[in-house]
Amino acid sequence: MSTSTYRPVVVITGASSGIGRATALAFARKGARLVLAARRQEELEQAAAACRDLGAEAVAQQADVGEEAQVELLARLAVERFGRIDVWFNNAGIDAFGSFAKFPRAHDPRVRPATGAALKRSRPF
Ligand SMILES: NC(=O)c1ccc[n+]([C@@H]2O[C@H](COP(=O)([O-])OP(=O)(O)OC[C@H]3O[C@@H](n4cnc5c(N)ncnc54)[C@H](OP(=O)(O)O)[C@@H]3O)[C@@H](O)[C@H]2O)c1
Repeated sequence: MSTSTYRPVVVITGASSGIGRATALAFARKGARLVLAARRQEELEQAAAACRDLGAEAVAQQADVGEEAQVELLARLAVERFGRIDVWFNNAGIDAFGSFAKFPRAHDPRVRPATGAALKRSRPF
């Protein structure tokens, strides 16, 4: 763990795997205080535990970024737990490769709200 006294509060969406999980571990090594979010509870808890094993404070909050109320709850939890938010990493996302016009319409209800919620959350607090 870092010896620095600056311990930023970092919220990471999509922290249950991949880039989000790796970013959480990198912040944990620097002594950040972490609020991790994703939909898969077990994987998310494991990511938070791995951060704590590195000496960081880390909490897991199940949240679907396509659901605005869950994103608002996530922000409130971070402020209630740590008093502020220094970094918000809108990492949760869906990769789709190919022509937008050919993107399956069935995915629209998931992709568009997630994008909208992420953009809204990008505003400064
Ligand atoms: N890897 C690349 O080469 C690459 C390139 C360009 C952009 N990106 C972007 O970088 C981000 C991370 O990519 P990755 O490769 O690390 O992907 P990944 O391993 O599939 O991880 C995606 C993460 O997002 C979470 N997630 C997905 N939908 C969510 C939702 N609706 N609400 C909350 N969490 C959600 C997943 O967790 P749950 O399933 O538990 O919710 C998971 O933790 C994505 O936004 C991706 O589009 C990646």
